[in-house]
Amino acid sequence: MKLLIKNVKMVDAFSSKDGGLLIENGRISRIIETHKSEGQEAMQQLATTDDIEVIDGKGLTLMPAFIDLHCHLRYPGFEYKEDLESGQRAALKGGYTTLAAMANTKPVCDSPELLNSILTRSRGLNLCDLHQVGAITKGLEGKALADFKGMLPYTRLFSDDGNTIFDEAIMKAAIEAAKVMDFKILVHAQPETEIIARDIKLVEELKGSLHFCHISKEASLDLIKAAKAKGLNISCEVTPHHLFAYGLDYKVNPSFRGEGDVKALLKGLEEGHIDMVATDHAPHSHEDKEKGSPGISSIEVAFSMVNTVFQENGLNTNTLSRVMSYAPAKFLGLNSGLIKEGLEANLLLVNLDEAYKISTEDFISKGKNNPFDGAAVKGRVKMTIKRGQMMFQHINQ
Ligand code: DOR
Ligand code: ZN
Repeated sequence: MKLLIKNVKMVDAFSSKDGGLLIENGRISRIIETHKSEGQEAMQQLATTDDIEVIDGKGLTLMPAFIDLHCHLRYPGFEYKEDLESGQRAALKGGYTTLAAMANTKPVCDSPELLNSILTRSRGLNLCDLHQVGAITKGLEGKALADFKGMLPYTRLFSDDGNTIFDEAIMKAAIEAAKVMDFKILVHAQPETEIIARDIKLVEELKGSLHFCHISKEASLDLIKAAKAKGLNISCEVTPHHLFAYGLDYKVNPSFRGEGDVKALLKGLEEGHIDMVATDHAPHSHEDKEKGSPGISSIEVAFSMVNTVFQENGLNTNTLSRVMSYAPAKFLGLNSGLIKEGLEANLLLVNLDEAYKISTEDFISKGKNNPFDGAAVKGRVKMTIKRGQMMFQHINQ
């Protein structure tokens, strides 16, 4: 099957081009720029070839699909909050074709058997490409290291997200193991700046590497900037909600911060000190939120939130693509996240200027816990394509 997407602006981390592209066998086989007459002719010819299906994307932007390094799919054990299918369908609606799901499930993802069974089940759904994060410590208790060696055939990502590892000796041992066995550690730091400062010191001492999840404070960014300037192997992410609002009294870890923090985080993204945006999509039931569970269900509106804030603050779509597609692809070692011939055709059609109001009622996710219900946003995912296959299409009401 061949698919031609025409009449679009193609935007990725490094370029913006008018034209379209051809998809063959799930890959981008040809990029056609139409600012010159040769390109227009080639496009015309392809568009009228018999065995090529054509999508006219007039007025829309074609981007690499998004990759989320941090979400909670709640399987197994909390399927009343979310499950592999509802979470991945919500993700596709949000423009994500690749996800990393955190390990704070019941039982905790700390064994090879569980990882294998989640991945097998997910493959059977044929929705997103799933990376299942393994726990750093057994049961996320922060006391004893989990079975890294056993889990390594199934994942290269480890995190105790939701919990902080307070025992410095355990953290040191994890950093050492990651260095020897070549895997990534994603750090949940609470209290944020204190733990980040401690862990940067450990990275320096051990010549290791760490990724800091959901940073929210200017002070944290300053520490990370200084560490990177020293050449330390550090990366970090920020969530859509910590960019979209400040000072909100809504339970989420980390908390909403101040206006100055938000401005600093945006500058950090633009300048490249913050590597990526990751959702921390954290679906909860209404009852669990009432009882104080932290988190925001956001994956299907994450792009709209980020695009809105970026437009308001003068950050461009190349930067958005860098932090939502290119950087997470690179982190995961994937040869994707760009619009380039030969790469898997994981692509989105988006309308960067479509204005709408977030409505949690319309969420596919089981988690309706989002404080921005009713908020005006700009930018909507119109179509999500994974390896050349249409996985989601937004039908205008
Ligand atoms: O708000 C949060 N919710 N922060 C976390 O770190 C964990 C997450 C969850 O699992 O609900
Ligand atoms: Zn976390």
